[in-house]
Amino acid sequence: MCGIVAYIGNKQAFPIVVKGLKRLEYRGYDSAGVALLDGQMRIYKQKGKVADLEAITEGQDTSGTIGMGHTRWATHGEPNNENAHPHVSQSGDLSIIHNGIIENYATLKEGLKLRGHSFNSDTDTEVLAHLIEDVMEHTGLPLADAVRSSLKQVVGAYAIVILSKHHPEHLIAARKGSPLVVGVGEDRGEFFFASDATPIVEYTNKVIYLKDGEIAIVEKNELTIKSIDNVIQVPYVQELELNLEQIEKGGYPHFMLKEIYEQPRSIYDSFRGRFDAQSGEIMMRSMEDYASRLKEIKRLILIGCGTSWHAGLVGEYLFEDLARVPVEVEYASEFRYRNPVLYPDDLIIAVSQSGETADSLAAMELAKRKGSSVFGVCNVVGSSIPRLSDAGAYTHAGPEIGVASTKAFTAQVTVLALMAVAMAKLRGTMTIKEITVFMKELEAIPAKIEKALLLNDMIVELAHKYKDAKNFLYLGRGYNFPVALEGALKLKEISYIHAEGYPAAEMKHGPIALIDEEMPVVVIATASEHYEKVVSNIQEVKARKGKVIAVVSEGNHGLDSLVDHVIEVPETIESLSPLINTIPLQLLSYHIAVMRGCNVDQPRNLAKSVTVE
Ligand code: G6P
Repeated sequence: MCGIVAYIGNKQAFPIVVKGLKRLEYRGYDSAGVALLDGQMRIYKQKGKVADLEAITEGQDTSGTIGMGHTRWATHGEPNNENAHPHVSQSGDLSIIHNGIIENYATLKEGLKLRGHSFNSDTDTEVLAHLIEDVMEHTGLPLADAVRSSLKQVVGAYAIVILSKHHPEHLIAARKGSPLVVGVGEDRGEFFFASDATPIVEYTNKVIYLKDGEIAIVEKNELTIKSIDNVIQVPYVQELELNLEQIEKGGYPHFMLKEIYEQPRSIYDSFRGRFDAQSGEIMMRSMEDYASRLKEIKRLILIGCGTSWHAGLVGEYLFEDLARVPVEVEYASEFRYRNPVLYPDDLIIAVSQSGETADSLAAMELAKRKGSSVFGVCNVVGSSIPRLSDAGAYTHAGPEIGVASTKAFTAQVTVLALMAVAMAKLRGTMTIKEITVFMKELEAIPAKIEKALLLNDMIVELAHKYKDAKNFLYLGRGYNFPVALEGALKLKEISYIHAEGYPAAEMKHGPIALIDEEMPVVVIATASEHYEKVVSNIQEVKARKGKVIAVVSEGNHGLDSLVDHVIEVPETIESLSPLINTIPLQLLSYHIAVMRGCNVDQPRNLAKSVTVE
């Protein structure tokens, strides 16, 4: 979703800002723009990619040591040059970039129109630029105070950066509900601002994560952070763990492929140091600190969006199966508006890669208001979800840049599995022997994924065969029903082929009507308690001439003569099989998308981090 980069210091801002925008491209966007301050304010903006923006700045004056840039993911107003950020005030002296939504912008706009303001775009952001200038004119307040005063009138979410022609040594930023990170540069007075740390990491590892309701003011080389009520805040400067290598492609043609191949490592990192497979001991601080509470909880509610919701569904099987606790899995966007019935002995676990998904955050806030305990399972360290959680666990998968989530999903499932076992241990629903067997299997997963990745070449061939299909169906049962959903989501996200994931037995109640010789059906048929039932479902597909691609456990040749293609993956216990079975489905979507000429890492209309509801 919208990306923000800004720089103030002694270097030329434009190259830093443009490079930063490229680092944020993964978030998803449809136009880009920059504002540069150098005595006067120069603004360049363009529909399309950052490369299109660079093209229009060729031969133009891009000088200035203060600058800001933006990638816009359209919410209010179509993606075009007028609606691209930065937006300017009535006089054109003040410019702003914004991530978020000003919900009361229409009312504010009407008021400003009555006072003689006219607007050039359909955006909510432009209204804020006008409002700040209007406040300055009518109250005589200095810029930073006028920003604070204006923000008090705003309902909604924002991360903003503001430059003013009349304040050549100033840069002002603020956040509420949308993320903003400040990088503290090596030179005195040098600061970087960005939606996440990826554009900052090559310049400094010292960062401040702005909190909701905070305003950062850089004035004459000094950074001050204030609350919206003008109280000076003491910034907490953190050392970034991120390094440049982690956010570059490392020889792979796409981030998505790199991240698929990183999974043996990322899964290992997500469980490393968290258990001892010999003794069955589990070392998860959140579970230890909340031990007495976790023994008592009556219900678990897992919330998330997109792929994280799918990980939550795998979690449902794990927690119910292993810890014998009732589980519900909710789309955060539905849960937050449903007036759900919650009790103090409910535990909510929000699952999120980015930790910034607006609906997930709002659902957590609701649960907290209703008195439930809220945990987070999150990948991005220091993001909003862990900050809002009572406790939780990081997935430690490392930065995920490809919009289609891969390694974050398997890391989420790994962490949920560990939490489920920890809870099972606390509640006495697994014996130490059962726990050690489970952990030994988990320890073996990275090596088995290495092996599953060797399937790449045969999956390339499959992709060739099916790249022109109009529809795909994915079927799975039990633990592998969410894997079917995830396989279908991956395919539609990046290749734009319509795909549906279904519980295999439910196929009879609808999707079976779609099956003909044109329809590829991917069936997860690895060793499980319900294997025979899955085979019956395959028979039903074959009876209607569907093309079946079956994912089976290594050495199982029982389906060779029944199905069209067999993908053999290393065997593990059913409860951990989603970690392995997901891999060939990720590879299949990836190769199909590449063969169809799609932009794999930045699929159309999608955003990596959905910071608006
Ligand atoms: C977007 C991303 C998905 C992600 C979902 C939830 O739609 O494109 O990959 O699964 O948001 O995001 P989260 O960061 O909360 O996991």
